[in-house]
Amino acid sequence: MTSPDSQTEALDERFLEIISINGRDYQKYAVDRQISFEPVDDDEAERLELQHRVFHKVFDDRLIFPPIPHLRRVLDCGYGSGSWAIEIADQHPECKVFGIDICPHMSPDDVPQNVNLEVDDLNRPFTFPTKYFDLVQSRLVATGIHRERWPSYIRDIKRVLNPGGWVQLVEIYFNVQSDNGSITEKHALREWSTRYMGSFEPSKDLRVGTRLRNLLLAEGLTEVDARMIPLPLSAWSTDPRMREIGAANSENTRRLLHALALFPLTQRRRMPLDQYQALVARAQEEARTPSLKAYFPLYVCIGRKPL
Ligand SMILES: C[S@@+](CC[C@H](N)C(=O)[O-])C[C@H]1O[C@@H](n2cnc3c(N)ncnc32)[C@H](O)[C@@H]1O
Repeated sequence: MTSPDSQTEALDERFLEIISINGRDYQKYAVDRQISFEPVDDDEAERLELQHRVFHKVFDDRLIFPPIPHLRRVLDCGYGSGSWAIEIADQHPECKVFGIDICPHMSPDDVPQNVNLEVDDLNRPFTFPTKYFDLVQSRLVATGIHRERWPSYIRDIKRVLNPGGWVQLVEIYFNVQSDNGSITEKHALREWSTRYMGSFEPSKDLRVGTRLRNLLLAEGLTEVDARMIPLPLSAWSTDPRMREIGAANSENTRRLLHALALFPLTQRRRMPLDQYQALVARAQEEARTPSLKAYFPLYVCIGRKPL
């Protein structure tokens, strides 16, 4: 387990307490308050790194999507293992990179001097000053943001952006799709998706990826651009680039299917562990079956605070 020594201020003990369930570690604070149900152990940190490498391939090594000539301050909401924040800091030594996460456990011990990681709940109003950042990124936090928080979350992001500053949002829609329509209700991947997404009802919005454009427009962001990019679960594509992305994503998918739904299904929905393991094993098998052409839609959306 990585220690949260990299934090600049002494951490509230409540954020450090871990509970172990079914072989995975969770942050007690986040679980008790129903904020997040994802593991926070070394395995999960490793998976997030793996997934970050996949995103490098998906986005052709671009970490920042909008055109921003000078980066002075950047905020990463839900920094996880810190990979995005640290790479931004390395590439832009003149830029100060802030990160917020409810859980300090997955960040490395040593971070560059220009990285400042803080523990906070993104469901609460931001404490940063108004007009402070040139870019705010929020990537894969849908399982941790309360459904009714989204409009005020975007409003907070807009408030802390400089005029002309940008927000970039990335969310996976975990409702598995098939490029040739061959995944049916009988498939374990479909069952995994339905049960996983259902387990967050009604408190979280796992469909928020599809709503990012509307959320940004509703809060007055401009130059809004939203895309859906298929994220292949394995190397099934005949297109060489997509095939390479799928190959890279195969191991991430194998781990993701087990890690993400473990607490939601076995603890919140009381599915027996052996039944869960059997479902995940079948879903993993299907994910690597080329003929099913399985993918998760990945939603990417950018918007600009008016000048
Ligand atoms: C799936 S990980 C993604 C990490 C990183 N953004 C990435 O793309 O690699 C989600 C992260 O968001 C954090 N998170 C979820 N809900 C949060 C909340 N309400 N406040 C702060 N952090 C949160 C989790 O602790 C976890 O580290």
